[in-house]
Amino acid sequence: MTPSLASTQRDERLQADYEAFLSAHPGFESTAEIDQLRAKEFSRLDRLGHVYLDYTGGGLYGECQVRSHSDFLLDSVLGNPHSKNPTSRETTDRCEECRRHILRFFNAAPDEYAVIFTGNASQALKLVGESYPFERGDRLLLTFDNHNSVNGIREFDRAHGAETAYIPVVPPSMRVDEEALERQLELGANCKHALFAYPAQSNFSGVQHPLEWIERAQAKGWDVLLDAAAFVPTNRLDLSRWKPDFVALSFYKMFGYPTGVGALIARRSALEKLHRPWFAGGTISVASVQADTHYLAAGEAAFEDGTLDYSNIPAVDVGLTFVEKIGLDRIHERVRTLTDWLITRLMEMRHGNGEPLIRLYGPNSCESRGGAVTINFFRASGEVIDHDLIEQEATARRISLRTGCFCNPGAGEMALGISRSELVTCFSRTSADRMTYDAFRRCIDGKSTGAVRVSIGMVSNFADVHTFIHFARGFLEP
Ligand SMILES: Cc1ncc(COP(=O)(O)O)c(C=O)c1O
Repeated sequence: MTPSLASTQRDERLQADYEAFLSAHPGFESTAEIDQLRAKEFSRLDRLGHVYLDYTGGGLYGECQVRSHSDFLLDSVLGNPHSKNPTSRETTDRCEECRRHILRFFNAAPDEYAVIFTGNASQALKLVGESYPFERGDRLLLTFDNHNSVNGIREFDRAHGAETAYIPVVPPSMRVDEEALERQLELGANCKHALFAYPAQSNFSGVQHPLEWIERAQAKGWDVLLDAAAFVPTNRLDLSRWKPDFVALSFYKMFGYPTGVGALIARRSALEKLHRPWFAGGTISVASVQADTHYLAAGEAAFEDGTLDYSNIPAVDVGLTFVEKIGLDRIHERVRTLTDWLITRLMEMRHGNGEPLIRLYGPNSCESRGGAVTINFFRASGEVIDHDLIEQEATARRISLRTGCFCNPGAGEMALGISRSELVTCFSRTSADRMTYDAFRRCIDGKSTGAVRVSIGMVSNFADVHTFIHFARGFLEP
């Protein structure tokens, strides 16, 4: 690594680069209010010297969100919502208000869509997987770049004798081969039930897959599960325009606080197709021990096991209002312009012998892509620099980024050129139930099994991205 620039030199370079950035991306200026907001609400970032570049991992909260929520808690008496007493009613009213706010935020009609509160996006995905009426002859269609919390649905599908198929994503852009998708979609017409699950934005490559697929798949008989966890923090999802059957998301990814609350937003007609594999407190209208019978509650309640996280749900309301005030379009523009600059600068970095410093796994323009930028670093000799080393060096500079495969093994396998036969050989060498990631890395020896992800979000600023570029330059060989 090269030594850091002296701070005045660094400030001068930052200023000059900022001016060049603004002239290339004049739209960034329309987001200036976010810089003021960052100084006021997120001052802890600079005070504690953090360069936060893991927004796809988790969003950050503004101070006013925490204050507003704590004021609410200090001024309310909340009871368990499964009663009709005054404190219970207060809780129910707050939760219902929050459901309505979520529907408004996504422009979803209340008679068409229901909001089911879950602990996170994974639980929302699991609810669909475990309740979808898979039978022999049915199909589950996934893209290679699904998160593991979507991949896991294949276990439910297989347990019922149905088939799982994957559509590959093609490096280097990591987009889907549309012809392969079309061929797979045709097969849905022959099934009683067919479920197509894909990410609106890949948490690996940042690719935004077309929302047009929803209608196309539905026209061929598929139910569509849209994993919107990585998409909704910086993009508008308009459910009056796009009509997926199921949408999964986590609120901490959108505005940092609270953690522990997510949602499955589902079309009411699609919910009727689901069969819950069990029942719990809150999910039934009537159950009997002696008669060994139960009746599910109507609507969303049938899917909310036990007691909701009712002290935190009102903080979702606060978070949505916070994002609405900033404006999703403004957040989107900020992320788009910073991402474009980051990618362009990274792609132009060359070692003294002309070899590129990085390889990008995902689109190299900001067309239909979000702020997750996944790369590996290479030496001038062409040898990959281990992502663990990059993380160690970044950590030493208080830069928070993500390394590994980010729970997205299919995208990693495609991006890094790890073949099916290599994987099968590796896994056949171990008969144990468990395998550590280190053992896996040793077994796919000679190849990188992971990458480095830098992700930009709501309150990223130019200095964050500039610091990372400066950090990356430190790996250049003369
Ligand atoms: C695209 C995507 N889907 C699903 C998830 C799972 O979200 P959670 O861990 O909040 O359940 C993530 C988390 O990173 C994600 O990025």
